[in-house]
Amino acid sequence: MDAVAQIAAYESDALAALAAAASADDLEAVRIKFLGKKQGRLKDLQTLIGKVPADERPAIGKRFNEVKDRVTAACEVRQSELLKPRQSAGAIDVTLPGLPLRLGGVHPLTQTIQEFRDVMARLGFSVADGPEVEDEWHNFEALNIPADHPARDPLENFYVAAAEALAGGPRLLRSQTSTVQIRVMERTRPPVRIVSLGRVYRPDAIDATHSCMFHQMEGLMVDRGVTMAHLKTVLRQFATAYLGDSVEIRFRPSFFPFTEPSVEFDMRWRDRWLEVGGAGMVDPNVLGAVGYDPEVYTGFAFGLGIERFCMQRYGVTDIRNFYESDVRFLRQFA
Ligand code: PHE
Repeated sequence: MDAVAQIAAYESDALAALAAAASADDLEAVRIKFLGKKQGRLKDLQTLIGKVPADERPAIGKRFNEVKDRVTAACEVRQSELLKPRQSAGAIDVTLPGLPLRLGGVHPLTQTIQEFRDVMARLGFSVADGPEVEDEWHNFEALNIPADHPARDPLENFYVAAAEALAGGPRLLRSQTSTVQIRVMERTRPPVRIVSLGRVYRPDAIDATHSCMFHQMEGLMVDRGVTMAHLKTVLRQFATAYLGDSVEIRFRPSFFPFTEPSVEFDMRWRDRWLEVGGAGMVDPNVLGAVGYDPEVYTGFAFGLGIERFCMQRYGVTDIRNFYESDVRFLRQFA
């Protein structure tokens, strides 16, 4: 190896050893080996350069000095890194506490939906799903809502022109999860025991308790001999499981085209009654629409507002909080 190559080898070996030095003691050993004046690699190089022909010596000597300066400087930098990490400019002090990293959390509505599913699973209900863009058969007709019913007013619904163009018939964002009752009964024979949880859409004026999109849980149970007593028991069990034994609920006679008789059910909330859902015995016309014999089978159905239950449990006073993605709100549920 000629002198130039020796100098280059010296430099790369020295820099690698400096970088690998993990403690002050290591570093001192490296310093002695590569920069020691009396013996070591530097001394060897000097001896070698002394033997280089005189005409080449100035150039080689210059190169040697440059390399020696670089290695000396690198050694000093490494020294300050190892000895005084807190003061070394530009270096990262790994001993300082880090910036806190906030983990995301499951959205409160998603948490509520999961919990509802669990409660209903314990009561023997499985989960079913349906599309959010629906046809009029599933959203209205099969549910005994005739064409002249006020609920079908286009101004009361979100009709989707683009979906209609694709499907070749009217399509709307479902206004209730009762659509899934029909879809399930169309494809299964009794006994049926399902819940369906998801979004529904209504062009309501938005305020603290109304949103044009919200979530419902639909329940449906059809079998021989299902009665209103089963309905009331399931709803009471559900409310107690989610809100505790002290929850007060009541049923008020009401009307829905797809149930007969029908009730609305309310929950006691801050010294007043708050409506949280509708329910009733599945209307024989609905059973007929899906090919079930109403003389053999009876069933109950209910639909409740998921947000309202969640608001009740956590004392949320404005439904809009759920949709605004404000981390100050969401953090309470993380
Ligand atoms: N679909 C009704 C609503 O959205 C609720 C309901 C469901 C009522 C099932 C009765 C039976 O208001």
